[in-house]
Amino acid sequence: MRIILMSGSSHPTLGAAIANVLGMQLGQCVVDHFPDGEHHVEVAEDVRGGDVYLVQPLGPPVDAHLMELLLLVDACRRRGAARVTAVVPYLAYARHDRRESGREPLGARLVADLIRAAGVDRLITLDLHSPAVEGCFNIPVEHLSAMPLLAEHLRQTAAPNSVIVSPDLGAVKRAERYAAILKLPVAVVHKRRMSGSEVKAHNITGDVKGCAPILVDDMISTAGTVQAAVQALLEAGCIPEVTVVATHALLVGSAFERLQSIPLRRLLTTDSVPRPDGLPLPVEGVSIAPLVARSIQSLHKGSQDA
Ligand code: R5P
Repeated sequence: MRIILMSGSSHPTLGAAIANVLGMQLGQCVVDHFPDGEHHVEVAEDVRGGDVYLVQPLGPPVDAHLMELLLLVDACRRRGAARVTAVVPYLAYARHDRRESGREPLGARLVADLIRAAGVDRLITLDLHSPAVEGCFNIPVEHLSAMPLLAEHLRQTAAPNSVIVSPDLGAVKRAERYAAILKLPVAVVHKRRMSGSEVKAHNITGDVKGCAPILVDDMISTAGTVQAAVQALLEAGCIPEVTVVATHALLVGSAFERLQSIPLRRLLTTDSVPRPDGLPLPVEGVSIAPLVARSIQSLHKGSQDA
């Protein structure tokens, strides 16, 4: 089966980087809009009988990128693709993996159903908000982790007096894994979310006095979580040299201002979603392109062996 790699409009740079690692050209597709705002996509590539990989992380504007992915998959299917794998390094709505009240939808499950209904056979994704999100999918999920890449980067640069900090209870397991790899102590900030963008930290478990904090999370959206955690850490006696590590740096809303308001030594992240150029922040990035390319190679090889 012929392998075909295509990229939607959400992160063409990542698509090109993956193609480069694989030594392939990106397949041709057209993505634009009708005057009323509807998406218009065309798969110009001959995908008939092919093993298609569609790269489309669901960063902002989330719903537009999701709809575009669904339309591209449908177009591939209707052009006769034998197998379609959605490569979605950042899966939006993954935080909606449970209902806080009976009034809420189960967004992660709905998105999973939409992706499957469009005709996706398999999903490649990265550092889901929670591993439980995999359970929303009725198709196989390759759940990759950027943690080894990020931890290796930290290993070379972390100060010996560092402490790994989970900025909320949801990230404790992630923090413990970083702490084990880097042989550093771990602390946990207890947070309460007041709204989509407002967060309060009210307690810290663990000894952080005199330490340089390394906050680890799956994502930074408005940076409310990071800002609240750093305030609490400084009040508890941490030294003002903060490292923030997050796979997905969405940086929406007041994120820049909030990150500029803390003593940020560096922000370590990946290219799972596009980063605006020239950020006035000390950003260090690692590319996930080789990791994703390896996963594509191994899935494609599996399809040939089957
Ligand atoms: C929440 O559970 C997540 O792991 C992140 O901590 C959160 O989504 C980050 O959002 P924000 O940057 O807006 O606080």
